[in-house]
Amino acid sequence: MRIGVDYYPEQWDKEMWQKDADLMVKTGVKLVRMGEFAWSRLEPRDGQFDFAWLDEAISIFARHSIGVILCTPTSCPPLWMYETYPDITQVGPDGKRIQTGIRAHRCLNAPMFLYYAKRITEQLAHRYARTTAVVGWQIDNEIEAYPCTCEVCRGLFRDWLIDKYDNLENINSAFGNSVWSGEYSDISQIQPPTAYPKAWQNPSLCLEYSRFASDMAVKFVNDMTMIVRRHYPKAKVTTNTYFSENKPDYYRMYELLDFVAYDNYPPIMLPEDDDEIYSHAFYLDLMRGVKQKNFWVMEQLSGPTGCWMPMSPTPRPGQIKGYALQAMAHGADTVIHFRWRTANKGAEMYWHGLIDHSNVPSRRFIEFADLCRTAMKLTAIETTELVSDIAILYSPDNDWAFGIQPQTSGFEYFEQLKLFHAAFTRYGVNVDIISPTADLTKYKAVIAPEMYVYDQNAAENIYRYVIKGGTVVMTNRSGVKDAFNNCIMEPLPTVYRELIGAEIVEYDPIGDMEQTIKDFAGNEFRCSKWCDIMELTTARAYAEYEDCFYSGSPAVTMNRYCSGVAYYVGTVCSREFYESFAGNIMKQTGIPRLKDLPKGVEVTTRTNGLDDYIFFFNNSEQEVEITLPKAMFSIIDGGERDNFTLKPFDMDVVRK
Ligand code: GLA
Ligand code: ZN
Repeated sequence: MRIGVDYYPEQWDKEMWQKDADLMVKTGVKLVRMGEFAWSRLEPRDGQFDFAWLDEAISIFARHSIGVILCTPTSCPPLWMYETYPDITQVGPDGKRIQTGIRAHRCLNAPMFLYYAKRITEQLAHRYARTTAVVGWQIDNEIEAYPCTCEVCRGLFRDWLIDKYDNLENINSAFGNSVWSGEYSDISQIQPPTAYPKAWQNPSLCLEYSRFASDMAVKFVNDMTMIVRRHYPKAKVTTNTYFSENKPDYYRMYELLDFVAYDNYPPIMLPEDDDEIYSHAFYLDLMRGVKQKNFWVMEQLSGPTGCWMPMSPTPRPGQIKGYALQAMAHGADTVIHFRWRTANKGAEMYWHGLIDHSNVPSRRFIEFADLCRTAMKLTAIETTELVSDIAILYSPDNDWAFGIQPQTSGFEYFEQLKLFHAAFTRYGVNVDIISPTADLTKYKAVIAPEMYVYDQNAAENIYRYVIKGGTVVMTNRSGVKDAFNNCIMEPLPTVYRELIGAEIVEYDPIGDMEQTIKDFAGNEFRCSKWCDIMELTTARAYAEYEDCFYSGSPAVTMNRYCSGVAYYVGTVCSREFYESFAGNIMKQTGIPRLKDLPKGVEVTTRTNGLDDYIFFFNNSEQEVEITLPKAMFSIIDGGERDNFTLKPFDMDVVRK
């Protein structure tokens, strides 16, 4: 397995490059990523290119047999460009043009920006696409579905809508614009959402704008990718992403790219709230699920984080190594650390890399070197992947729609996905997080939480899966909206009513209030946020409410449908409920469970079809004891054992 580092030749004297490359080789670094912010060095003046320094940097790493991931620098246009074409900067939802001076403020649709972005990408691709040392490409950096409201984006948004709806009448009707006299009589009246809270604005407009902004980000990535591929069709191209406020549709963004690249900064202080303990694994699984393929980490935690916020505590002993291995346990094939050296100049000087300002290798660097040595021993897992019996469905549409109209106090789209994910993770199994339209046939259980915005393909996919014998778990806030983000005039959960065999006669958005439910076995659990009050048609009650005027009515149901089973969880419960529920689902569907795993221990399995490799990761600050059912061979240290101790953040990988 490969470990790499993010490197900024433009920030260091040339003499340092050679020394750094020497030390990288000694440490076991296999890849460097560079160039994503270096536009002013590559094109110091309009049309004057300088590649000599990059040639030199690449050739130094090539001589050291270190592969280069070359980035297109379009995240940071040089100041001459902003000066000549001020309208290449984004205009925020407040209508104000963003001031230059930080980064990433270019509008992805601004024609002059695009002209220059294509030209520099073309130049780089022409020069380096066939360079052997350049083993991969990163387009731009952390592209978001920016909520730009500049003239160009407004125009494109209008075109995008007309393309979809044909005319204003259809838009008015789909958006329900008779509400608050919002009817468009001229296309010029269509405006992107404003800086006011989304919940005050038209939900259809807001959802369409998220879709549009995502499409624009995807288009930009694809256009740049095509330029690189034109020069070298076999080029491996990606773009790096994170969970920003303006998430694009990851499924579409990576559709034409070779692999997903994720910027992975797990929290250094473990969450005090047990509910969040496995949430980091959740994000890794989500990234793997985007292409249902192994992915890369393009930026990995290396030190105390700072600059964008006050400095965080320093990574605890074991975390530098452990979190990189954790990413591999969840499907990363390559992990690149951000960054080799901590910057000593510029805004990000306190977002620490592996080597501190002191330039003296520290505890973290020593741990990183140990990680590199360990990664080299993991050759056996290079051709392996995670195979899972359980899938959780993640939908960008639902994510955006809940962001536009948060349902009750504290209600968050990801919460229920994470609760289910954590519950299954507790039992030491792989969990996939995939698109609602992905092939579900291979899963023994599919969790489809909050299927809020209607998507015909997704609904048919879920029905088909259950009809053929699958087990699905649906939840509150399903079937609520049509594809235009309007409420459907039918008893909830509308399209899913037949599948779940129950009807919601009323709901109680209880927000942060707490109530109790009792399951069929007499176990009681806390619930909050939302209570669907249901009447059963063909389903049976799995759990009932114990409070309020609906005490005694079903809260969780189970329905046999054709050859399959559909559960429905009408409320949002405490962690204990999901654990017990997931345990029952696993029993019922024949998914093997590991019981009594110490809290915080994650167990995942990668397989090549012949051999299975089990990863045991201790994501806790306590030492834990692991007992195996039989003696197994550790590919980390070559020992054979049937039990072992894991220090905090330690990992062992055994062959089954
Ligand atoms: C992001 C960016 C990096 C850097 C890090 C740390 O992930 O891609 O350039 O800014 O955050 O702040
Ligand atoms: Zn714009």
